[in-house]
Amino acid sequence: MQRVGEDGSLLTMPLIEYFGSGSTKVDLRRAPAMPRPPLMVKYLIVFILLIMASTVYADPVMGQKLFNDKKCRLCHRIENPGTVFKPICPGLKAVKKRHSRQWLARWLKDPQAVWTENGADVQDINRRYFEYRGKRPGTRDSFMATVIGKQIVLTDEEISHLIDYLESL
Ligand code: HEC
Repeated sequence: MQRVGEDGSLLTMPLIEYFGSGSTKVDLRRAPAMPRPPLMVKYLIVFILLIMASTVYADPVMGQKLFNDKKCRLCHRIENPGTVFKPICPGLKAVKKRHSRQWLARWLKDPQAVWTENGADVQDINRRYFEYRGKRPGTRDSFMATVIGKQIVLTDEEISHLIDYLESL
Protein backbone atom coordinates (compact mmCIF):
# COMPACT_ATOMS: atom_id res chain seq x y z
CA MET A 1 0.00 0.00 0.00
CA GLN A 2 1.46 3.41 -0.93
CA ARG A 3 0.44 7.03 -0.58
CA VAL A 4 1.96 10.30 -1.70
CA GLY A 5 3.51 12.39 1.12
CA GLU A 6 3.03 16.15 1.55
CA ASP A 7 6.33 16.87 -0.21
CA GLY A 8 5.31 14.63 -3.05
CA SER A 9 7.60 11.75 -2.09
CA LEU A 10 6.36 8.20 -2.01
CA LEU A 11 6.01 6.89 1.51
CA THR A 12 5.76 3.22 2.08
CA MET A 13 3.08 2.46 4.63
CA PRO A 14 4.66 -0.64 6.17
CA LEU A 15 7.72 1.46 7.02
CA ILE A 16 5.66 4.08 8.83
CA GLU A 17 3.84 1.38 10.71
CA TYR A 18 7.14 -0.20 11.70
CA PHE A 19 8.85 2.94 13.00
CA GLY A 20 5.69 4.65 14.25
CA SER A 21 4.85 8.27 13.55
CA GLY A 22 4.65 9.83 17.03
CA SER A 23 7.44 9.85 19.61
CA THR A 24 7.26 7.10 22.15
CA LYS A 25 8.88 7.94 25.48
CA VAL A 26 11.11 5.29 26.94
CA ASP A 27 11.17 5.28 30.72
CA LEU A 28 14.85 4.76 31.50
CA ARG A 29 14.18 4.20 35.20
CA ARG A 30 12.26 1.11 34.32
CA ALA A 31 14.92 -0.23 31.94
CA PRO A 32 16.55 -3.38 33.32
CA ALA A 33 19.86 -2.65 35.08
CA MET A 34 23.05 -3.76 33.33
CA PRO A 35 24.58 -6.74 35.11
CA ARG A 36 27.57 -5.54 37.13
CA PRO A 37 30.89 -7.36 36.48
CA PRO A 38 32.35 -8.95 39.59
CA LEU A 39 35.17 -7.00 41.30
CA MET A 40 37.83 -9.53 40.25
CA VAL A 41 37.03 -8.92 36.57
CA LYS A 42 37.39 -5.17 37.06
CA TYR A 43 40.82 -5.59 38.68
CA LEU A 44 41.84 -7.93 35.88
CA ILE A 45 40.89 -5.36 33.23
CA VAL A 46 42.86 -2.61 35.01
CA PHE A 47 45.83 -4.96 35.33
CA ILE A 48 45.78 -5.86 31.63
CA LEU A 49 45.53 -2.18 30.66
CA LEU A 50 48.55 -1.36 32.86
CA ILE A 51 50.62 -4.08 31.22
CA MET A 52 49.63 -2.82 27.77
CA ALA A 53 50.51 0.75 28.73
CA SER A 54 53.94 -0.29 30.01
CA THR A 55 54.71 -2.00 26.70
CA VAL A 56 53.48 0.90 24.60
CA TYR A 57 55.46 3.46 26.57
CA ALA A 58 58.71 1.49 26.71
CA ASP A 59 61.46 4.04 26.29
CA PRO A 60 64.95 4.22 24.76
CA VAL A 61 66.57 5.50 27.99
CA MET A 62 65.69 2.29 29.80
CA GLY A 63 66.94 0.40 26.75
CA GLN A 64 70.27 2.20 26.82
CA LYS A 65 70.77 1.23 30.46
CA LEU A 66 69.88 -2.37 29.65
CA PHE A 67 72.30 -2.36 26.72
CA ASN A 68 75.11 -1.76 29.21
CA ASP A 69 73.73 -3.83 32.10
CA LYS A 70 72.96 -6.86 29.95
CA LYS A 71 76.48 -6.91 28.53
CA CYS A 72 75.45 -6.18 24.93
CA ARG A 73 78.24 -3.64 24.94
CA LEU A 74 80.88 -6.28 25.57
CA CYS A 75 80.43 -7.48 22.00
CA HIS A 76 78.71 -4.59 20.16
CA ARG A 77 79.56 -0.97 19.55
CA ILE A 78 76.50 1.06 18.67
CA GLU A 79 78.56 3.85 17.09
CA ASN A 80 79.85 1.46 14.42
CA PRO A 81 77.94 0.58 11.27
CA GLY A 82 76.99 -3.07 10.89
CA THR A 83 79.96 -3.69 8.64
CA VAL A 84 82.44 -3.03 11.40
CA PHE A 85 82.99 -5.98 13.71
CA LYS A 86 84.60 -4.34 16.70
CA PRO A 87 85.40 -5.41 19.30
CA ILE A 88 84.24 -8.74 17.90
CA CYS A 89 80.65 -8.30 16.64
CA PRO A 90 78.66 -6.17 14.18
CA GLY A 91 78.16 -2.51 15.03
CA LEU A 92 74.51 -1.66 15.57
CA LYS A 93 74.20 1.81 14.10
CA ALA A 94 71.03 2.16 11.96
CA VAL A 95 70.15 -1.44 12.69
CA LYS A 96 66.46 -0.64 12.16
CA LYS A 97 67.18 -0.19 8.46
CA ARG A 98 68.21 -3.82 8.37
CA HIS A 99 65.63 -5.37 10.68
CA SER A 100 61.97 -4.96 11.56
CA ARG A 101 60.87 -4.63 15.16
CA GLN A 102 59.37 -8.10 14.93
CA TRP A 103 62.65 -9.59 13.71
CA LEU A 104 64.60 -7.89 16.50
CA ALA A 105 62.15 -9.17 19.13
CA ARG A 106 62.55 -12.73 17.92
CA TRP A 107 66.32 -12.37 17.58
CA LEU A 108 66.74 -11.14 21.16
CA LYS A 109 64.43 -13.85 22.46
CA ASP A 110 65.99 -16.77 20.64
CA PRO A 111 68.90 -15.98 18.30
CA GLN A 112 69.60 -19.65 17.61
CA ALA A 113 66.09 -20.25 16.19
CA VAL A 114 66.27 -17.16 13.97
CA TRP A 115 69.79 -18.10 12.90
CA THR A 116 68.64 -21.53 11.84
CA GLU A 117 65.55 -20.48 9.90
CA ASN A 118 66.23 -16.95 8.67
CA GLY A 119 68.74 -17.86 5.98
CA ALA A 120 69.14 -14.61 4.08
CA ASP A 121 69.84 -12.43 7.07
CA VAL A 122 72.20 -14.86 8.64
CA GLN A 123 74.16 -15.20 5.46
CA ASP A 124 74.34 -11.45 5.27
CA ILE A 125 75.80 -11.13 8.76
CA ASN A 126 78.17 -13.96 8.01
CA ARG A 127 79.17 -12.50 4.67
CA ARG A 128 79.87 -9.10 6.20
CA TYR A 129 81.87 -10.70 8.98
CA PHE A 130 84.05 -12.74 6.70
CA GLU A 131 84.47 -9.82 4.32
CA TYR A 132 85.67 -7.71 7.21
CA ARG A 133 88.14 -10.40 8.20
CA GLY A 134 89.28 -10.64 4.58
CA LYS A 135 88.20 -14.26 4.32
CA ARG A 136 85.71 -16.16 2.18
CA PRO A 137 82.21 -16.56 3.63
CA GLY A 138 81.68 -19.73 5.57
CA THR A 139 78.98 -21.18 7.73
CA ARG A 140 79.19 -21.08 11.47
CA ASP A 141 76.76 -21.00 14.33
CA SER A 142 75.34 -17.86 15.81
CA PHE A 143 77.90 -16.46 18.19
CA MET A 144 75.31 -14.36 19.98
CA ALA A 145 73.24 -17.46 20.68
CA THR A 146 76.06 -18.82 22.82
CA VAL A 147 75.21 -16.18 25.44
CA ILE A 148 71.70 -14.79 24.86
CA GLY A 149 69.11 -17.01 26.47
CA LYS A 150 71.82 -18.84 28.41
CA GLN A 151 73.91 -16.45 30.50
CA ILE A 152 71.86 -13.40 29.47
CA VAL A 153 68.12 -13.92 29.91
CA LEU A 154 65.84 -11.11 28.76
CA THR A 155 62.18 -10.60 29.69
CA ASP A 156 59.68 -9.44 27.03
CA GLU A 157 59.62 -6.01 28.66
CA GLU A 158 63.42 -5.71 28.59
CA ILE A 159 63.42 -6.76 24.94
CA SER A 160 60.86 -4.06 24.17
CA HIS A 161 63.04 -1.38 25.89
CA LEU A 162 66.14 -2.64 24.11
CA ILE A 163 64.44 -2.45 20.71
CA ASP A 164 63.25 1.09 21.43
CA TYR A 165 66.89 1.95 22.07
CA LEU A 166 68.18 0.09 19.00
CA GLU A 167 65.59 1.82 16.81
CA SER A 168 66.68 5.23 18.06
CA LEU A 169 70.27 4.70 16.83
C1 HEC B 1 78.92 -12.70 22.98
C2 HEC B 1 78.79 -11.53 22.18
C3 HEC B 1 77.42 -10.91 22.03
C4 HEC B 1 76.60 -10.39 23.01
C5 HEC B 1 76.82 -10.37 24.52
C6 HEC B 1 75.47 -9.81 22.32
N1 HEC B 1 75.59 -9.98 20.96
FE1 HEC B 1 74.33 -9.30 19.52
N2 HEC B 1 75.40 -10.23 18.09
C7 HEC B 1 76.58 -10.91 18.31
C8 HEC B 1 77.03 -11.51 17.05
C9 HEC B 1 78.29 -12.31 16.84
C10 HEC B 1 76.07 -11.17 16.07
C11 HEC B 1 76.07 -11.59 14.59
C12 HEC B 1 75.25 -12.86 14.45
C13 HEC B 1 75.82 -14.00 15.24
O1 HEC B 1 76.90 -14.51 14.91
O2 HEC B 1 75.14 -14.41 16.21
C14 HEC B 1 75.06 -10.35 16.77
C15 HEC B 1 73.98 -9.76 16.14
C16 HEC B 1 73.12 -8.86 16.75
C17 HEC B 1 72.12 -8.11 16.05
C18 HEC B 1 71.84 -8.11 14.55
C19 HEC B 1 72.88 -7.21 13.89
C20 HEC B 1 72.72 -7.04 12.40
O3 HEC B 1 73.33 -6.11 11.86
O4 HEC B 1 72.04 -7.81 11.75
C21 HEC B 1 71.50 -7.34 17.00
C22 HEC B 1 70.37 -6.35 16.77
C23 HEC B 1 72.09 -7.65 18.27
N3 HEC B 1 73.10 -8.57 18.08
C24 HEC B 1 71.72 -7.07 19.48
C25 HEC B 1 72.24 -7.44 20.72
C26 HEC B 1 71.74 -6.97 22.00
C27 HEC B 1 70.61 -5.97 22.18
C28 HEC B 1 72.48 -7.59 22.96
C29 HEC B 1 72.32 -7.48 24.47
C30 HEC B 1 71.11 -7.98 25.02
C31 HEC B 1 73.47 -8.41 22.29
N4 HEC B 1 73.30 -8.30 20.94
C32 HEC B 1 74.43 -9.15 22.95
C33 HEC B 1 77.24 -11.03 19.51
C34 HEC B 1 76.75 -10.66 20.74
